[in-house]
Amino acid sequence: MRDATPAAWVASPGAPLRGTFDVPGDKSVSHRAVMLASLADGTSRITGFLEGADTRATAAIFARLGVRIEAPAPGERIVHGVGIDGLRAPDGPLDCGNAGTAMRLLAGLLAGQRFDSVLVGDASLSRRPMDRVIAPLAAMGARLGGEGGSGRAPLRIAGGRALHGIDYPTPVASAQVKSAILLAGLYADGTTTVREPHPTRDYTERMLRAFGYPVDIGDAASGSAGAVSLQGGGRLRATDVVVPADFSSAAFFIVAATLVPGSELRLRRVGVHPRRTGLLRALAAMGADIDVLPSGESGGEPVADLVVRHAPLRGIVLPPDWVADMIDEFPAFCVAAACAAGSTVVRGAAELRVKESDRIAAMASGLRRLGIAVDETEDGATLHGGRLRADTGAGIAGGGIDSGGDHRIAMAFAVAAQCAGGPVRIDDVDNVATSFPGFDTLARAAGFGLAGAGA
Ligand code: S3P
Repeated sequence: MRDATPAAWVASPGAPLRGTFDVPGDKSVSHRAVMLASLADGTSRITGFLEGADTRATAAIFARLGVRIEAPAPGERIVHGVGIDGLRAPDGPLDCGNAGTAMRLLAGLLAGQRFDSVLVGDASLSRRPMDRVIAPLAAMGARLGGEGGSGRAPLRIAGGRALHGIDYPTPVASAQVKSAILLAGLYADGTTTVREPHPTRDYTERMLRAFGYPVDIGDAASGSAGAVSLQGGGRLRATDVVVPADFSSAAFFIVAATLVPGSELRLRRVGVHPRRTGLLRALAAMGADIDVLPSGESGGEPVADLVVRHAPLRGIVLPPDWVADMIDEFPAFCVAAACAAGSTVVRGAAELRVKESDRIAAMASGLRRLGIAVDETEDGATLHGGRLRADTGAGIAGGGIDSGGDHRIAMAFAVAAQCAGGPVRIDDVDNVATSFPGFDTLARAAGFGLAGAGA
């Protein structure tokens, strides 16, 4: 079922953002919870599951692979695990929709099955690079490839291959690549080790442990910092997973409340995993006023209430080694930079070009249309904020942009419009339902000026 998001929005300055809100469950954690619960022995209950199109696609795929998954209430799944070797051959291609996490992690997991499978995705996912998982999986003995050797979906994965462990230094800092290799490693002979150039979110490793699977997460003391290892041939034990609220969804509200004068917003029980919260560091360096009030753990992840008050921002040179910790937050961050005094410099962020859209190009062209000067580079951009318009007093002008079918671009421009001198029409917003169903309703309740504009 699709969210009832309209095809276009007209967003304009609303009221100061006030109140206490819960954003939906974490996308990364929801995907992994369904995957590991499906492979476990026994029944697992997932609460706080993200009812987004991406994570529902993953659940639908495991149903096609023979796993019984009940949905007794929104945000809840009961997964009757089939055991590590219990998946059944699907009766046709498996549709990952827009979800890169689903396709890349499943590539690893399916490479170890007895049966063949084919992974397909929407137009955006079919453009994204899959060679980054194909190469290491092939090195483990898997046979898989994109259409015509293209390194792009559809991905055909041959079953019945004997996999062997590898020690793989990943050239890109990517939790999806790391996770694909580790999931294949469950089915491989011997030890599988992944070494990352920069640490990324470690949900797969930690969730494997929560499901009773031993994983060696390297540390400085043992001289193996940045390495993750596991042995193939083990089993997973069912467990219940409580999914925290998604920091990446909270990010749009964090930036909006920072930018709109008079705002004071509380976001409850948001996952604040350090590999996800680089945006908080960046905004703090720009002068933001955000309290992080720890409120315990949710599913083994640290969670906190975030209290965000309006504050004027100043531009910064973003340290490149913060990039991986805020990789999904750049659309929102670019809006913050556009409204800051002075320029903000982003480098070392070439990965943004291969997300659901080319997010460097999408933000640069959209912000330019709204009167912000942006110098684009191959691996980032310099955003010139703080040039207040004489006519409206606003740094951002009204106008029209197209999200290019990218959920985070659509939501970022809804935030930008809250500080614009006139209405901003945002076309192609259906994809917001992939990660944040109900964004428009929650945004309006918080004070956003945001209306559906129909097709
Ligand atoms: C994700 C990892 C990141 C992130 C994506 C979710 C994950 O992608 O951008 O939204 O759940 O592992 P990369 O691994 O490509 O950096």
